[in-house]
Amino acid sequence: MRKEDPISPCFTDVLALLQALSRDWQMKMVPLSGGADTYKGKYRAMARRKLIAGNWKMNGHLDSLRELHGIEKAAKSHPQVDVAICPPATLIAAAVARVPGLAIGAQDCHSADKGAHTGCLSAPMLREAGAHYVIVGHSERRADQGETDEDVRAKAEAAHRHGLTAIVCVGETEEERDAGTAEAVVTAQIAGSVPAGATAEWLIVAYEPVWAIGTGRVPTLDDVLAMHTAIRAKLVESIGDEAEGVRILYGGSMNGSNAAELLAVPNVDGGLVGGASLSTDKFVPIIEAGATLA
Ligand code: PGA
Repeated sequence: MRKEDPISPCFTDVLALLQALSRDWQMKMVPLSGGADTYKGKYRAMARRKLIAGNWKMNGHLDSLRELHGIEKAAKSHPQVDVAICPPATLIAAAVARVPGLAIGAQDCHSADKGAHTGCLSAPMLREAGAHYVIVGHSERRADQGETDEDVRAKAEAAHRHGLTAIVCVGETEEERDAGTAEAVVTAQIAGSVPAGATAEWLIVAYEPVWAIGTGRVPTLDDVLAMHTAIRAKLVESIGDEAEGVRILYGGSMNGSNAAELLAVPNVDGGLVGGASLSTDKFVPIIEAGATLA
């Protein structure tokens, strides 16, 4: 009995010390070990919602909007994924009126808010029409309209100024991939096209290998993984911690048959879909694939 008295307090003290050390370890050692960023990254990575976005390009008339009803229905039945359709600008307002439950986006915007730019549309105009997203720097515009990284960055900034989420597109040509420069090309596009200070609230990146767009060819899953990992790392360099929350979509011949495996690749946070977004029947299975992975 007598012996326990000196031992008990001692044991209690040791226990208290261990508990204090353990609290201290949890609170201090995690950041010191560099684990805080990793932890935050994992936490935020888990929080990234998949986005399945359709890019109608220069396709569609008023009667095409009937396809949106089934897409809206699928979006509502799978609330764990975000769904958007970017029709030609002439259809934005009509699409918003027809399917108010579906997010609508634009395919381009000018970097200026207004002015003498015949034929162009500004971010505030698109916002007023009801758009929530705007694709900027699609490879077809980089090639056909000669848009540079600087142009794309200015467009993304304009989008942000007016409350639009910018989907910044990057991607290498077949020649660049064959030459082994794909990653260098794409990370340079990220460095040049992503505005400083961009946040996950309004920036999305779409990796679209030019040679995979509309061709039925897709990169191997290993190539997709390598590129999306490289893009994430470059985003961290460009915008710091915020990069972990930025969604990186894959685009290029995504369809109902390959979506599930592409969307399961780490750092693939959704899809930017061209041809297969033009009809309900082809687009809904991609939404479903995203939903099962969410
Ligand atoms: P695709 O187009 O799905 O028809 O290949 C993708 C895109 O260009 O956004």
